Amino acid sequence: MTRGKIAELIKLNTIFQAPMAGVTTPELVSEVSNQGGIGNIGAGYLNAKQTQNFIEKVKMNTNYFYGINLFVPEKSDLNEVEFDQAKQKFKQAAPAYAQEIPEKIEISHVFAEQIEVVMKEAVPIVSFTFGIPDVTVIEQLKQAGSYIIGTATTVKEAIEIENAGCDAVVVQGFEAGGHRGSFLGDNDLIGLFSLLPQVADSVKIPIIAAGGIMDKRGVKAAYNLGASSVQLGTAFLMTYESSADKLHKKTLLSSVETDAVLTKAFSGKLARGINNEFIEKYKHEREKILPYPFQNSLTKNMRSLAKQQNDKSFMSLWTGQSIRLSKEQSVRDLMNELKK
Ligand SMILES: Cc1cc2nc3c(=O)[nH]c(=O)nc-3n(C[C@H](O)[C@H](O)[C@H](O)COP(=O)(O)O)c2cc1C
Repeated sequence: MTRGKIAELIKLNTIFQAPMAGVTTPELVSEVSNQGGIGNIGAGYLNAKQTQNFIEKVKMNTNYFYGINLFVPEKSDLNEVEFDQAKQKFKQAAPAYAQEIPEKIEISHVFAEQIEVVMKEAVPIVSFTFGIPDVTVIEQLKQAGSYIIGTATTVKEAIEIENAGCDAVVVQGFEAGGHRGSFLGDNDLIGLFSLLPQVADSVKIPIIAAGGIMDKRGVKAAYNLGASSVQLGTAFLMTYESSADKLHKKTLLSSVETDAVLTKAFSGKLARGINNEFIEKYKHEREKILPYPFQNSLTKNMRSLAKQQNDKSFMSLWTGQSIRLSKEQSVRDLMNELKK
């Protein structure tokens, strides 16, 4: 029942608030759903208990459909030589934060526990980024009634997502803010205008377009190019209901499209954010960046201390390329503008 109703909604041009790990709040997610869109929990950095609490709060505040987004874990090893080299580079890139280097990097494996919570709570929509989970996981979630969405940055990835049994695909253009969902290599950087019609010609499942969409003009363009629904990140990051740092929002209001660069410096995975001193320091020494999720763990303490100290030179200020269209406003006002 639920899956069928969600499939209908997606075909009928629904506005998705992009799942944004670290930025989405229960208020943001539930308010988007209450305003006729689909709010999405960015659960990538949460443990099982936090995931459960978040879902409970969303359920208390909305009776409409909402979604959750999980990071598909990757297999990667950290060797001591690489770790030492990365620590040296970090000290040179961020000397004021040298004490924030963790002694050991331990990666917690929460994915399987998160899936259990999601099944128990019968979350209506489950989306994935950074890969495709095992077909058994997809099948279990579908059996439990969830609608499943994958994330693609190329036609080939979209086809793999369809073949794995996902119900829909988020097509994420080069313009997009935050991490890229690529899982078949990260060298191919395709803009949404080019990607959408080519994916539309290659898969049968519905497409949700993401990347650089901030207002009605982008929404219409995406529908014209083959999307059934749209997903906006930066526009919702700027709402009062998001937990993006005040300085993050303020910085976006005074930035322009050329300030939004792709970097692996913060996490080891390509992501788009405002250029700053930390990113610049890695520009010519990309080989000293650890693979995800190790670089993410290496820079974690620095990022949170920099935030506390209002030091935007060392914060990750994620944003898409359409920054000049940023506006601080309520979810209700943004949704009303998009629905017009
Ligand atoms: C702060 C931030 C965090 C993000 N976190 C996630 C995430 O956890 N999972 C995900 O699938 N996409 C994430 N994204 C990417 C969005 O889903 C979406 O692709 C992107 O925001 C679209 O581009 P736009 O910001 O120009 O609208 C994030 C984006 C931002 C800006």
